[in-house]
Amino acid sequence: MPQPDAGPHHVAIVMDGNGRWASKRFLPRIAGHKQGVETLKKVVRLCAQRKIAVLTVFAFSSENWSRPAEEVSGLMDLLAGALAREVSQLKRDGVRLRFVGDRSGLSDRVRTGLSLAELETADNSLLTLNVCFNYGGRWEIAQAAAALATRGEPITETSLSQAIALGVGPDPDLLIRTGGEFRLSNFLLWQSAYTELYFSPAFWPDFDESALDQALAEYHARERRFGKTSAQVVLSRIPSV
Ligand code: IPE
Ligand code: IPE
Ligand code: MG
Repeated sequence: MPQPDAGPHHVAIVMDGNGRWASKRFLPRIAGHKQGVETLKKVVRLCAQRKIAVLTVFAFSSENWSRPAEEVSGLMDLLAGALAREVSQLKRDGVRLRFVGDRSGLSDRVRTGLSLAELETADNSLLTLNVCFNYGGRWEIAQAAAALATRGEPITETSLSQAIALGVGPDPDLLIRTGGEFRLSNFLLWQSAYTELYFSPAFWPDFDESALDQALAEYHARERRFGKTSAQVVLSRIPSV
């Protein structure tokens, strides 16, 4: 049985497999992305019910610009449309939206949508949903290092951690990748140093409550040692008298 405060407090997800989900049904890839938005809405609700405080999802990588122009513009439209439709409900549900990524590469319409959604939901605190959009882990590290250098501050693990943490918050406890691939694809490279990794064979549009609970059960069965021995970890759990 997991302890009541056993977490995970922060879950990160690489929402992969939308295109294959659609191809399997002879649908255009964008139909898979649309269905993926529906899955995300459900997973946000499920995470809030499970008292997960932070959910960080990978929605568009800096490398995804290499996809066919039609798919890229379809994804931009999907984001703008989803924001226009969903923000008021997310606001009512207590979800705080934040976007992490390079906004300079995005259109004015998308940029405005992101800022409005952040502003609208800024006072919410039930669950923070970080959407990584036009995001790359290497970009984020370089960006934080450049900011420290500009301010003339020393670049150390602590200062870099602090500069980067302004993005997604505390390091994720659990990182789930759907779609059956076993790689990070440039997601949260700095923050996942001690994150538990879980790979689900389900395509993202098929990822449901039981798939999420399977990932959480596996997380609770893991022993997070952070470099220590198992005996040290077990001893540290015994309350001192
Ligand atoms: C993930 O699904 C969503 C994005 C990268 C935008 P994919 O589109 O990568 O789906 P597959 O991997 O091709 O099935
Ligand atoms: C990672 O998926 C990015 C997102 C889910 C947004 P990709 O489908 O782009 O990753 P690769 O190309 O298979 O590594
Ligand atoms: Mg993919």
